[in-house]
Amino acid sequence: MTNRINKILTEGKTGSRQTVNGWVRTRRDTGSFSFLEINDGSCLANLQVIAEGTLPNYSEEIKKLSAGCAVTVSGDLKESPAKGQAVELHADSIIVVGWADPEEYPLQKKRHSFEFLREISHLRPRTNALGAVSRVRSRLSWGVHNYFQQRDFFQIHTPVITTSDCEGAGEMFTVTTEKVEKSGADAAAQVKEFFGKSAGLTVSGQLQAEVYALALGDVYTFGPTFRAEKSHTSRHLSEFWMIEPEMAFCDLEKNMQIAEEMLKYLLSDVLENCREDMQLFHKFIEKGLIDKLQSVIDDDFGHISYTEAIEVLLKAEKQFEYPVSWGIDLQAEHERYLTEEVYKRPLFVTDYPSSIKPFYMRLNDDGKTVAAMDLLVPGIGEIVGGSQREERYDVLYSRMLEAGIDVEQYGWYLDLRKFGSVPHSGFGLGFERLVQYVTGMANIREVIPFPRTPGSAPC
Ligand code: 4AD
Ligand code: MG
Repeated sequence: MTNRINKILTEGKTGSRQTVNGWVRTRRDTGSFSFLEINDGSCLANLQVIAEGTLPNYSEEIKKLSAGCAVTVSGDLKESPAKGQAVELHADSIIVVGWADPEEYPLQKKRHSFEFLREISHLRPRTNALGAVSRVRSRLSWGVHNYFQQRDFFQIHTPVITTSDCEGAGEMFTVTTEKVEKSGADAAAQVKEFFGKSAGLTVSGQLQAEVYALALGDVYTFGPTFRAEKSHTSRHLSEFWMIEPEMAFCDLEKNMQIAEEMLKYLLSDVLENCREDMQLFHKFIEKGLIDKLQSVIDDDFGHISYTEAIEVLLKAEKQFEYPVSWGIDLQAEHERYLTEEVYKRPLFVTDYPSSIKPFYMRLNDDGKTVAAMDLLVPGIGEIVGGSQREERYDVLYSRMLEAGIDVEQYGWYLDLRKFGSVPHSGFGLGFERLVQYVTGMANIREVIPFPRTPGSAPC
């Protein structure tokens, strides 16, 4: 039976027969035999294989194996006399399934820079760090579903192609079958050709999730989202994944409680189930990462209103590039100062000016601010953005007019406020920013398999 290396290393009995499929990491010859380190992607650790010179293909094939070659190895699992591993596989058969020319294979034993690895995104998951990121990412995704399903939330598949720009920031990619050659009104007509109106790739599943929250109660959507903003930062992607819960009969306070509880759940789950990979990040990517995440789990998150945050920033001894005054959109430098230098832990900022937030956020009684919340974390900045939604028909209607939104096109969204409207809330957690936070990876391009950013979309 073929086994995965993680199972062999954790559960394999010495004396048992094992067959593994994997890729050679290194080969070392010594006297009459060779050591092979085999990795199959199931875990960080390699399986050490002893290949005796008596194997029939020893000089013809095994002595030519190099990094990247694919092999199937069968043999007996034995206790390893050497340090570094508890067991090793004594091969009686090694089949070379696929060769990798050492002159051409770009992954050598030395450590490669992440920038270089981005140029070979088809091979980089074979490295220790990127393999570990992939496994942690998979576990986090599983954790998201576990968290919600255990709490009776229903998953809603919201559309990828949409006709509503939820965030109203005009950052949508247009979807059309036509090559748009015209400009102005003619271009608009061409774009409308397929769906009868202009359509784009979704920037958020929120508005559609609201529809289902007002029917099923607690729901979530977890899918890819697209933003055509020309941001070249280590926190922005043109295509990223977002987790968006939406809860009926729920105010801003409960919304924040869910966000905090969910984040803590995901961190605990990963620390428990991805120990070996997390150790790698802790030692080599962000020193002390595991302790940092543990304290995030143990401590309460901070809370501050936008207005209070502005006061703190105005009093700060730090010189900011972007001047601070009530009404500005907080910049990354402000967010990071608040969470890294003042609070030194995750921080909810609430009640932003309505003028800098989308139309759907609930207007507060002061008439100036909305029931918004952003969660800021040290090292990343904004990781969650959410709000209580405007459930009052008239208030929403005038907010939409103010924002220049075509109310006819959003008739369905307004209907939700006509027929059984209830207070409801939700948020969006950027999945890649979460993976960055959990792994300590400095650049968001390392935590998604195939990053898309302005000017770059390999594979
Ligand atoms: O704050 P945002 O824009 O909120 C929304 O889209 C709401 N509709 C969510 C909701 O209430 N259901 O985005 C939410 C999160 C951000 O906090 C950030 O973590 C992430 O999505 N995000 C990005 N991640 C990577 N690249 C980008 N370009 C991102 N833009 C936002
Ligand atoms: Mg936001």
